[in-house]
Amino acid sequence: MKHTMQTVHVHGAAPYDIHIGPGLVGDGGALAAHARGRHALVVSDSHVAPLYAQALEDALLAARSDLKLARFVLPAGEESKTLAHFDGAIEALAALGATRDACVFALGGGVVGDLAGFAAACWMRGVDVVQVPTTLLSMVDSSVGGKTAVDIPQGKNLVGAFHPPRAVFADTATLATLPPREIRAGLAEVIKYGALGDPLFFEWLEAERQPLLDGDAGALATAIARSCEAKASIVARDPLEKGERALLNLGHTFGHAIETEQGYGGVGNDNLNHGEAVAVGMVLAATLSARLGMSPAEDTARLVALLEAYGLPTRVPAGLSPEALLGRMRLDKKNIAGRLRLVLWRGIGQAEVVPDVDEAQVLPVLAGMG
Ligand SMILES: NC(=O)c1ccc[n+]([C@@H]2O[C@H](COP(=O)([O-])OP(=O)(O)OC[C@H]3O[C@@H](n4cnc5c(N)ncnc54)[C@H](O)[C@@H]3O)[C@@H](O)[C@H]2O)c1
Repeated sequence: MKHTMQTVHVHGAAPYDIHIGPGLVGDGGALAAHARGRHALVVSDSHVAPLYAQALEDALLAARSDLKLARFVLPAGEESKTLAHFDGAIEALAALGATRDACVFALGGGVVGDLAGFAAACWMRGVDVVQVPTTLLSMVDSSVGGKTAVDIPQGKNLVGAFHPPRAVFADTATLATLPPREIRAGLAEVIKYGALGDPLFFEWLEAERQPLLDGDAGALATAIARSCEAKASIVARDPLEKGERALLNLGHTFGHAIETEQGYGGVGNDNLNHGEAVAVGMVLAATLSARLGMSPAEDTARLVALLEAYGLPTRVPAGLSPEALLGRMRLDKKNIAGRLRLVLWRGIGQAEVVPDVDEAQVLPVLAGMG
């Protein structure tokens, strides 16, 4: 089951391939095949550009010496996913003289992918974007599915567009420089795919913990491919999130409440990052499901054991009030007509949307009294 190179086909109205394996940043022939015209803009951030941008640009130029290339670099971090930096990317396209057949290469994590994808969606009403994700989270989640956006002070991802990439190149060798905590955050999202719809993948993750945490290229490529397949098949059936796509949010309503209540995690603080908050959120969703009689408690225990084995948190951080967290959950975009609408599960591999959850059942779960 372990191959270092894998390809996942994404079907639908705008099909594309996700290539997964080591060394893809240097595969100029494959990358340049998507540059239809003469102009290419590489968008990256201040951590990733010094590590990989030159290699990507050299590879592109070796394959296509006629390409006119420019580079636009954001300061690393979520604080850069703004309209101001979006404007910077647009200015860079204008300075390049990019025509409608230009191609944007998004080299970085989800912040770069979302902003560069949105700039590509808008320049001349839409030019091509090729996603080159360099975090595990962006390989298994944000580079797939075509959602692009920037944040505004009123909220995250409020301005954006659906703009599927022409291709995705997930170079697993780039994960060698990613901090271990970011790897674990990505693994939380990988575990989510097993938990929501694929019990065999869940079992595989139980068995393959050590190679995955050791950065084994074959194990990582398999984990990324299975995750992308899961996301791609759901997104192909429900591209605009009218139904089934909501299942991808298993653990996210609880997780977002934790993230907002504690302040976002980041460099220099101990707050849970997104993947860690999702890990806790999945445990809370499983605990609530068992409490409501929807799922066996043993499945919650198996989920907790798996997350702990991957070094992920499974409890609400101390000091967060259950009432305050419930207040945050009431503001979730998935709620309809003031009713709490949550993604819960019937057990490992069987998530479902529950439209009207009784708040009185949620509070004890948030208080750790499952
Ligand atoms: N579009 C979607 O469907 C979707 C889905 C999930 C998340 N997102 C978005 O993704 C963003 C989070 O993405 P992320 O977790 O990748 O964060 P990120 O892009 O901020 O990257 C995390 C950190 O890792 C650094 N980094 C990236 N690759 C590296 C590498 N190979 N080596 C060393 N350092 C590296 C970055 O500079 C950054 O400091 C959020 O803005 C979120 O809203 C979008």
